[in-house]
Amino acid sequence: MRHLLSTRDLTRDQAIRILDVAEDMADVQNREVKKLPTLRGKTVVNLFFEDSTRTRISFEAAAKRLSADVITFSAKGSSVSKGESLKDTAQTLAAMGADGVVIRHHASGAPQVLAQSDWIDAGVVNAGDGTHEHPTQALLDAFTMRRRLHPGSSRGRDLDGVRVVIVGDILHSRVARSNLWLLRTLGAEVTFVAPATLVPFGVGSWPAEVSFDLDETLRSTRPDVLMMLRIQSERMNAAYFPNAREYARQWGLDDERLTALGPDSIVMHPGPMNRGLEISAAAADSAQSTVLEQVANGVSIRMAVLYLLLSGEREALA
Ligand code: NCD
Repeated sequence: MRHLLSTRDLTRDQAIRILDVAEDMADVQNREVKKLPTLRGKTVVNLFFEDSTRTRISFEAAAKRLSADVITFSAKGSSVSKGESLKDTAQTLAAMGADGVVIRHHASGAPQVLAQSDWIDAGVVNAGDGTHEHPTQALLDAFTMRRRLHPGSSRGRDLDGVRVVIVGDILHSRVARSNLWLLRTLGAEVTFVAPATLVPFGVGSWPAEVSFDLDETLRSTRPDVLMMLRIQSERMNAAYFPNAREYARQWGLDDERLTALGPDSIVMHPGPMNRGLEISAAAADSAQSTVLEQVANGVSIRMAVLYLLLSGEREALA
């Protein structure tokens, strides 16, 4: 594998290999000196055409901890805002000798276009493209689940039989899509819960159960993992639900639902959170919440992915 564009292309063995390498990277994070020399002399460019906090700084930290040279390029303030095309941008990066390109783009499919082009010969990592995929988010989510559910013995394991309920704005969520493919590959069962207006067309052919009733699903599924998604207002040009209070009442994780969930289930959110809308402050800050663990694990996962794609160990993922 030369690129990481989608979790749909990953085999179970490839996925487990990434998660296991991320375990090694997590061990490095616990050392006093958090740096490895592995990517010394390599250049990683972070190409961000869409806003990002977590993902951008996480990739930056990951590349730096592997001793790569890192160039972070956000479209705002660059020639892209003057109308420069993806092709010209890519050729500029190629001329600078980029070995890896991490790209976030508002257009679904942009990372594929870059990977398949002859504009640049770098490993491409999709850091979120439109409403399509966000593979490193799904990998860090799976890593977080595996560590929480198999403490002390997570290496080599998949998520066989784990019950995952994903709630909210499925329609606009690349996180939901990437999670679905990866979770199914790892053996987990996935249920999507959303208002009917936020369920994607064609979901019937996806390997997920679909429900419109959160309380009923929590009762019948008894999930090991409850993943709340952000309402992505920036991708909405119409009213998908009556109002915020109504959404929170029907599909939000409030304190009552948190109590009903029980102490052994975990609560996840990719961030950024709309506290009080899809998740209450108490739920976000509860002992079951893995929100900050997800952020920390994101660095380990991205180190693993950059290492596997760029260190000459690419064949390990082939
Ligand atoms: C997600 C994204 O950008 O797709 N956030 C993230 O990467 N941490 C989800 C979101 O924006 O809601």
